[in-house]
Amino acid sequence: MKRFLLGTNWKMHKSLSEALVYAETLIALSHDYPEYELFIIPPHTHLWPLSKKLEHSGIRLGAQNMHWLDQGAYTGEISPLMLTEIGIGLVEIGHSERRQYYNETDDTVNKKTLSALKHGMTPLICIGEAAYDKSKMVSEEVIRRQIKIALNGVGPLEARDIWIAYEPVWAIGEQGIPAEPTYVEQIHAQIRKVLTQLYGLEIAVEIPILYGGSVHPENAAELAEINNVDGLFIGRSAWDLVKFRSIMERVRKNRISGN
Ligand code: PGA
Repeated sequence: MKRFLLGTNWKMHKSLSEALVYAETLIALSHDYPEYELFIIPPHTHLWPLSKKLEHSGIRLGAQNMHWLDQGAYTGEISPLMLTEIGIGLVEIGHSERRQYYNETDDTVNKKTLSALKHGMTPLICIGEAAYDKSKMVSEEVIRRQIKIALNGVGPLEARDIWIAYEPVWAIGEQGIPAEPTYVEQIHAQIRKVLTQLYGLEIAVEIPILYGGSVHPENAAELAEINNVDGLFIGRSAWDLVKFRSIMERVRKNRISGN
């Protein structure tokens, strides 16, 4: 059985010393929760020391962004080669903050996705509609468009290596409004449908679809139970390991009790 994915993007948070302590505690925690595939996505400067710390732990480490080219005159960027050289096999692509503040578009998401796959990395492709789209009831169209452009040129064999995170922009961060489970179910079903149209059901069910945006200990168990939710992608609530543990525990309890 596939393990449920639970992971966190740290955004621009945590010093290196905090990161190392976090990793050590998470390794210990991971032994108590073998049913989860855990991953952390720290700032770039922490990747190398954390890769040493997490070696053989089973906890995956990812980068928050990369350029699609192997090298070039792109000050401030890092390349897929630089990541794979230090053993990074997961890269987050197209987070809404990247789209909002750094001009990421569906086209750049596509270029980065193709590049990640070419280099043997798992792209964690973030999609999600804005509040405006939702208010005009075009969320499903927006999601379909984002997926189709992101995966343009990705063949069925490579598609198995992709992870998708559905993160409605209006649900993310301090001002975020947690999404209703029925709404999440509807959008995740739509995502699975697009993937099935692109690659057929057998491959589509292999592609994990994670939910992210204001996931907290209070709502995690309910979100984890939704059809087509294969994992949770967590910001603030997983930066504190007491809360992250509480999420692990509540999701487990809910599953055991069959609710
Ligand atoms: P949040 O962040 O859980 O703090 O809302 C989610 C995200 O940006 O991935």
